[in-house]
Amino acid sequence: MRFDIVTIFPDYFAPLQLSLVGKAIQNGLISVGVHDLRDWTHDRHRTVDDTPYGGGAGMVMKPEPWGEAIDALVDPADPPILIVPTPSGEVFRQSVADELAASRRPLLFACGRYEGIDARVMAHARTRLEVRELSLGDYVLNGGEVAVLAMMEAVVRLLDGVIGNPQSLTEESHAADHDGLLEYPVFTKPLSWRGLEVPEILLSGHHANIAAWRREQARQITLHRRPELLPGS
Ligand code: ADE
Repeated sequence: MRFDIVTIFPDYFAPLQLSLVGKAIQNGLISVGVHDLRDWTHDRHRTVDDTPYGGGAGMVMKPEPWGEAIDALVDPADPPILIVPTPSGEVFRQSVADELAASRRPLLFACGRYEGIDARVMAHARTRLEVRELSLGDYVLNGGEVAVLAMMEAVVRLLDGVIGNPQSLTEESHAADHDGLLEYPVFTKPLSWRGLEVPEILLSGHHANIAAWRREQARQITLHRRPELLPGS
């Protein structure tokens, strides 16, 4: 699967070389291009922003470099989904990560900074591409870079061959086939640590009782932390 990222901070993406995503690149499961938006400017100062029409605080990213960057990176024979991280986007949930991974389509991420990208960039892109404006959640970051790192990791780990034991994908919080509950608590050795014991039921070897205990723990945790996720709420 192909990923391209356009940003004014290419160095932000050094961590993609680490861990599971880094391995996926090395194994050829994915390929990633990181591009500096300023490469598509033509003035001496490599300007990417300007003051907003209508007034207001902050600066807006100019449409011309974005238009040229997208033109350069779109292969019309295999058009990408253009993903624009923004706090005003639809919320990026596990279901969105599932969809993007299943589509196997190339993903082109456009990292905005300042007050955002001139809206005509997305309007024009929609005439020829699928465009998704996505938010990580109800808080404001300084730009799309951190959001792209999070979204890419969520998508890449779903691709075949990236995670050693695919069973671990279905047992976790927010997994599509995990009945909508948050994950139960987990424990490993030692049995006793700083006066805290591993719950005895987990040592019983009784799989049905362990499964029932985990389901109840998951329900309690969900009830306290995210009651809106419980069925019927
Ligand atoms: N850019 C700034 N804030 C963001 C957020 N919450 N999600 C995605 N992109 C963003």
